[in-house]
Parts: sequence; structure tokens; C-alpha cells
Amino acid sequence: MSANRPAAVVVLAAGEGTRMKSRTAKVLHDICGRSLVGHVVTAARQVEPEHLVVVVGHAREQVAAHLSELDPGVRTAVQYEQNGTGHAVRTALEELRDRGVEPDGTVLVVCGDTPLLTGDTLQALAEAHTREGNAVTVLSAEVPDATGYGRVVRDSGGAVTAIVEHRDASAEQREIREINSGVFAFDGKLLVDALGKVRRDNSQGEEYLTDVLGIVRTAGHRVGAAVAADHHEVVGINNRVQLAEARRLLNLRLLERAMLAGVTVVDPASTWLDVDVTVEPDVTVLPGTQLVGACHLSTGAVVGPQTRLTDTTVGADARVVSSVAEGADIGDGVSVGPFAFLRPGTRVGSGGKIGTFVETKNAEIGEGTKVPHLSYVGDAEIGDHTNIGAASVFVNYDGVHKHRTTIGSHCRTGADNMFVAPVTLGDGVYTAAGSVITKDVPSGSLAVARGQQRNIAGWVARKRPGSAAAKAAGEQPEGESGSHQGD
Ligand code: UD1
Ligand code: CA
Repeated sequence: MSANRPAAVVVLAAGEGTRMKSRTAKVLHDICGRSLVGHVVTAARQVEPEHLVVVVGHAREQVAAHLSELDPGVRTAVQYEQNGTGHAVRTALEELRDRGVEPDGTVLVVCGDTPLLTGDTLQALAEAHTREGNAVTVLSAEVPDATGYGRVVRDSGGAVTAIVEHRDASAEQREIREINSGVFAFDGKLLVDALGKVRRDNSQGEEYLTDVLGIVRTAGHRVGAAVAADHHEVVGINNRVQLAEARRLLNLRLLERAMLAGVTVVDPASTWLDVDVTVEPDVTVLPGTQLVGACHLSTGAVVGPQTRLTDTTVGADARVVSSVAEGADIGDGVSVGPFAFLRPGTRVGSGGKIGTFVETKNAEIGEGTKVPHLSYVGDAEIGDHTNIGAASVFVNYDGVHKHRTTIGSHCRTGADNMFVAPVTLGDGVYTAAGSVITKDVPSGSLAVARGQQRNIAGWVARKRPGSAAAKAAGEQPEGESGSHQGD
């Protein structure tokens, strides 16, 4: 790759993106866990340019802040007024010159709103450009509907002569289906010269980058076009319909890669992956599953249906059914759900179980430990092979502070327990059903923490005379039945 290493990649991202009708700058909208401009920068990084410059303008503080977080090596050039794509590239080159850089070699130009463009295609463009000895090579594409795009005009011999914007095109030129993707390879030095000659005599009064083709060609240099193999790759996002379509296409690309690597995806149409998701072979993903952020699924795991995992790891042969997990670490062979909510800091050791209507947070749950039903486990540490009875609550909040509960290994806690933190139960502890545990329990003890049961005989007949309950009980009120007198 280094033989064809471009001198610079310039990403154009100064436009407002009015048609998104959004508070958020267009290039900051997300598809599959990465911003539009993030996708473009990632593709650009793949060709290892010496300099990577993003032209920012509209919402430049947010865009620049996002970029420095994403890739601190990116330089930004501010285009204060959006006077056209040619002007934008000129702004980027002036920024480089201010830092003593005169691009010597290939300069690639990419739009910040084409998230499906791959590094491979950029690399192929740079290689074709060098191979053909071109001064300019445009990445073109044959599209079913060319409305709105610049058209690639060729002469009778097939040589590229110009790019004409849709609004400046003749009726005949509008028939052309080969469009300008907005992605170019330029000879850096000739680009600098030509940009100085671009005028604003078009219908928008802008400096068009596309005019560089004619200028360079008139000066006797070669101009070419590389046709993209897949026109979907060059789709530019202008509105939210296109945003959804690009997300669908990128998602399908991620799913296909996973499936070809041995992952079973039962319903690709209802399965959503982010770019940072990794899935091992022989994982099965059931319908309605969304994997967000940096998830990792290990071999043999079955996830879904109707499940959303965010930044969560799932161990080998684990099962996650109809559940939501965020920042959780689910061990090998663990069973989760249906209807569990694992919140950040949850770690479930191998062979464990988080069952139905269970919520966990900041909880270290040991190997083989089970929380099967209707419970909240927050700010807790539980040892290995412990069973938490149904409907238990780890009472972690006193209204001011959060406290921790620690429970040992091989414990059997009764149903409907409250563990009022801070509290510690040793190993091998039993607790009685319905206990409110407020004091530490030493290892091997049974804790009983509930009122003694009293049965008040004849109460129903006395207090609810004539009621269905009284009749069902078949009892006479005490004192009115001779047989019971004197008891
Ligand atoms: C541009 C091309 C058109 C091509 C299409 C592909 C020109 C003159 N036209 O048209 O031939 O078919 O892209 O999608 O180049 N930008 C700036 N500063 C500016 C103007 C634009 O940074 O002053 C950025 C925008 O943010 C955007 C990109 O350049 O990322 C393209 O601009 P846009 O206005 O969308 O150009 P199109 O009309 O789509
Ligand atoms: Ca556009």
C-alpha cells in the first residue's frame, strides 16, 4: 500500500445538510455505530495518507470536537462560507500550506456524506490514477436515477471531457447515467494550479471542483474515470430516507461478512449490527436482535429473539432470550431471560442464570449462581453456586448513598428477601422466605428475619359475618356456638 500512499486525503464536510431537518450536523448522524464522517475518515485511513484534512464549516465546533475524539491525527480546515466544493478543497490545501505542506503526489477528495465508500475502492481509485498517468481521475458510477448528480461527459472515443452539474446540464446530457460520485484522485501540484483558475460562472455562483477537469484537460493533461463496481458505495446522504437506506445497506454488508464467517443470522432484515460488533463462528442470532457498540459474541451462543445488547460480551454457548443488556459481561453457558435487564457493571460467571423479570446493575455474580425470578440485584457481589430466591431485592439505596451487598458461595436465600445494604452473608448461608436481612449473617447460619405468624381463630365469622368467606369457612362466630363456649 505504501507505494501508492497518497500525499493527502481531503474530506469535504462543511455543508449544512439542510434537507436532514436536524439540530445535528449532517455528517454527525450515525449509522451502525459510527458517524457519517467517521465512516469516511475510517475508509480514508485505510489508504494511509500522509495528511488527512477534513473541511468543516457548518457546526464546525461540534464536528471538529467529534473528529479529534475519533481520530486525533485528523486536521481540520475551516471554510467560513460554503462557496462550493472547489473552494472547500482550496481551503484544505491552504491549511496544509500554512503548515508548510505542499502536497507532492496524489490528493484524494471525498465527500463527508458518503458512508458506504470503502477503503478498498479508494485504494483502487488511487492505483488506477497512478497506473493511467492521469492528472485527474474521477470515481464515477452508473446509477438507475441520475437526478441531481453531476454527469460524466465523454467524447466519441470514450475519453472523459467534463463533469456537468445537473442544473447546468442540457437535456441531452441529462440522459447520461454515469455520474460523478464526488470522489476524485488529483495530481496535487496540478490541483493547486487549477483551483486558482476555477471561476464562479455557474447557476449557483460557486467554485465547482468539477471544473478542474476541464482546466487540466485544456492544459494537455490526462483525465480519466474509474467506474465504481457497486454504485451503492457512492450514495451520498442528503435526507433521512437516504440515511435509513444507507444504514440498511451497511448493516447488510456487516451481516453478510458475519454469515460468510460462520454466523447464523435467521432474519437479516430484523437484525442490526454496529461496526464494532464481533461475532465468532457458530453463533446463532435470532430475529429482532440489535447489537450496539462493541459487543462480542462467542462461539455457540444463541442470542434473541427480541434482544438488544449494548457494549456487552456473551460467552460461549450462552443463551440470551428477549432481554436488554448494557455494559454487561455474560459468561460461558449462562442463561439470560426471557425478559431480563442487565445494566452496566453486571458480570455473570460461567454457568450462571439471570432469569425472568430480573434486573441487575453493578453486580458480580459468581459461577453457577442463579437469580431465576423477579428480582433486583444492584451493587452486589455474589459467590459461586448460590441461589437467590424469587422476588428478592438488593436494597442498595438509603435515599442518599448506594451501599453494597456481599453474599458468599453455596448460599440458598429464601424467596422474597430484602438485603438491606450494607450487609454481608457468609458462605453456605440459608435465609428464610420473607426475611428482611439487615444484619450480617455468619457462614453456615440460617437467618430468619420476619414476624412470627399468629392465627386468630374465628376472626372472619366475627368481623365479616354473612360474607362469602365466612360461609365458605362454615364457622359460627365464637361465643354464639354452644359447642365452643367455654373454650
Ligand atoms: C456534488 C458534485 C456533483 C456530484 C455530487 C455527488 C460539485 C460541484 N458537484 O454535488 O457533481 O454528483 O456531489 O454527491 O462538486 N461542501 C463543502 N463546502 C462547500 C460545498 C460543499 O464542504 O462549499 C461539501 C458538502 O458538505 C458535501 C460535499 O461537499 O459533503 C458535496 O457538496 P454538495 O452540496 O452535497 O454537492 P452536490 O450538489 O451533491
Ligand atoms: Ca451531496
